[in-house]
Amino acid sequence: MDISTIGIVGAGQMGNGIAHVMALAGYSVTLSDVDQDALDKAVALIEKNLDRQVSREKISAEERDSALSRITATLDIAKAGATDLVIEAATEQEAVKHKIFESLAPHLLPHTILTSNTSSISITRLASRTDRPEKFLGFHFMNPVPVMQLVELIRGIATDKETYEACMAVVDRLGKTAASAEDFPAFIVNRILVPMINEAVYTLYEGVGNVRSIDLAMKLGANHPMGPLELADFIGLDTCLAIMNVLHDGLADTKYRPCPLLTKYVEAGWLGRKTKRGFYDYRGDEPVPTR
Ligand SMILES: NC(=O)c1ccc[n+]([C@@H]2O[C@H](COP(=O)([O-])OP(=O)(O)OC[C@H]3O[C@@H](n4cnc5c(N)ncnc54)[C@H](O)[C@@H]3O)[C@@H](O)[C@H]2O)c1
Repeated sequence: MDISTIGIVGAGQMGNGIAHVMALAGYSVTLSDVDQDALDKAVALIEKNLDRQVSREKISAEERDSALSRITATLDIAKAGATDLVIEAATEQEAVKHKIFESLAPHLLPHTILTSNTSSISITRLASRTDRPEKFLGFHFMNPVPVMQLVELIRGIATDKETYEACMAVVDRLGKTAASAEDFPAFIVNRILVPMINEAVYTLYEGVGNVRSIDLAMKLGANHPMGPLELADFIGLDTCLAIMNVLHDGLADTKYRPCPLLTKYVEAGWLGRKTKRGFYDYRGDEPVPTR
């Protein structure tokens, strides 16, 4: 199946990055959101990020201009639905996602493939509420989308081979690499990464090391480019906690118990970089450890 038009629902952090890479790869993109302000910000950010790629000589000015001309931003979800491939990248709440797939239903073309960029919600469950579970797939980009090489493709129980292969061809055309994952809680990357972060928080909680020594140990001792606590602040501590809860609930194993200290930071509203405080305090010139 040939895909040339892409509908993206949700123009936040991930939606704008997905629109950026799709337009640059030559796809015609319809980006929709319920919030005009989110759409305006997304288009401005895509422009800024494309400009940066031009100034670094990664793309030409012509490539930037034609990518921008291929993106249409709209409040009308119907326009995103009438495409070859829809990627839902809205807020990580299951009820929101079900509602979006319901609103899209009357506007889909018979061959439209439906996908979700969810980090943790069951693909099989999302698919079961649509009219086309066999044409439904998890299309999980990493953040920031223009920079990260990996896309996880997650098959629901009913996903057919043609759908999987058509999406694999899109990943290839983006110049990215796909890892296939089965539909179990948190898929592959977050299943491994987030418990490691949770363990780093336990190490802090139990006083084995402080923030600086834990990050230093993993950077120099395990050759990680970022320490686990620094990384947690980048991802967002609320997101890390939500993923631990999905693992704990979905796999019913105590090894996924969220660390009480992680819960405490989230309760304090210290969510990491986005709130300027997490395991580090970002309000000054240099990040300062909070423990
Ligand atoms: N942030 C990450 O690091 C990351 C990484 C991979 C996957 N994801 C997943 O991507 C999805 C989006 O995450 P994000 O970080 O971009 O969130 P975000 O909060 O930055 O953006 C969400 C957008 O969805 C819009 N939205 C909400 N309800 C909507 C509706 N009914 N119709 C259309 N748009 C609606 C909001 O207005 C907002 O612009 C989530 O499922 C998340 O789990 C996030």
